[in-house]
Amino acid sequence: MPETPQGQPGPLDGLPLLEDLPDVQGSRVLVRVDFNVPLEHGAGGEVVVADDFRIRAALPTLSWLVDRGADVTACTHLGRPKGTVDPRFDVAPVRERLAELAPAVGLLENLRFDPGEEANDAGFVAQLVDGFDAYVNDAFGATHRVHASIVGPPRYLPSAAGRLLAREVEVLGGLRVDPARPFVAVVGGSKVGEKLGVLRALLESVDHLIVGGGMAFTFLAAQGHTVGASLLDAGRIDSCARLLEEAGDRIVLPTDIVALGPGGAVGEGGSGRGEVRMVGVDIPRGWRGLDIGPESAGTFADIVAPAGTVFWNGPMGVFEDDRFAAGTETVARAVAGTKGFSIVGGGDSVSALERLGLAGRVGYVSTGGGASLELLEHGDLPGLEALRHASNAPARGT
Ligand code: 3PG
Ligand code: MG
Repeated sequence: MPETPQGQPGPLDGLPLLEDLPDVQGSRVLVRVDFNVPLEHGAGGEVVVADDFRIRAALPTLSWLVDRGADVTACTHLGRPKGTVDPRFDVAPVRERLAELAPAVGLLENLRFDPGEEANDAGFVAQLVDGFDAYVNDAFGATHRVHASIVGPPRYLPSAAGRLLAREVEVLGGLRVDPARPFVAVVGGSKVGEKLGVLRALLESVDHLIVGGGMAFTFLAAQGHTVGASLLDAGRIDSCARLLEEAGDRIVLPTDIVALGPGGAVGEGGSGRGEVRMVGVDIPRGWRGLDIGPESAGTFADIVAPAGTVFWNGPMGVFEDDRFAAGTETVARAVAGTKGFSIVGGGDSVSALERLGLAGRVGYVSTGGGASLELLEHGDLPGLEALRHASNAPARGT
């Protein structure tokens, strides 16, 4: 097992890999994948997969198994049907795309049609593993969930982390160990409450933590600014104030904001309505800050450009609306253009990159949003821990 410079075990320590499975020739292998992909209506009105990134990302594992003579069945969740059979979350369109990419691999029905999946019900686990000889987890994006298909099978079957899961753990886990400096994290999106833990963890190692998107307003409020009608998590103002106090100028906040006037509406592309103005960091009453301004975007880009490592999660504004897309675009270009190693996680940041045709210029695009943040925060995930307890797992530190 590769060791870190400090002699600590690396992020893959103790994790069984595909090579640790008993010979798979002729055996039936259950592969948990994260094919929770966006769907859209095709030309004829049929539902199709809008973005197959997560499906393609599992192909190395699926073909490794198929090439070695395994009989491979994949299983995934799709959306949040909450334990009932809901036709909107039927995996049929996913199955069709998979049949084009990996014709030998079958796909079970949506795991979350059964309440046992999210409840991590022992009976559902038993049903799931029935008839299989081995289990592989390649569902990085769902490995932070304590769900039946993620944590259950390693108790019953020889198990392994697939190629995608292992690579995600290596890259994101590596950020906690020895990132090339300066290490810059750019975090946006709306949910400050969900991200406080990871911000705190990032502050242990980053040189600069750039905060944009809807979550920036709770930080600005903590500095005493007025936020108008912008997104605000009033219960988190004190926590943000504490982080600002501890981190000093390592936390970088916007200095100007693009705001939408009272009565205005956000729309897709060019369909939004209402007056849009550039304001400072004190937002007028009734106005909603929906993007960072050009000065902030320029500052953020200047910090990102010379970075040795950049981690980006979450958009800088409501970029689906063209009027509030510029901040995210500037940051996306800066991340893609950085000299150092860039890592992007989270569905929104990845779709912003894809929209700009920049996904290929990023060092590593993670298939996980929440999972990548939890791995950065805790250094481990429930599904990884389950795999390390499988009967065929290598001893730690070997
Ligand atoms: C995701 O898309 O973030 C993952 O597939 C996990 O989905 P969940 O947030 O519904 O558990
Ligand atoms: Mg999610």
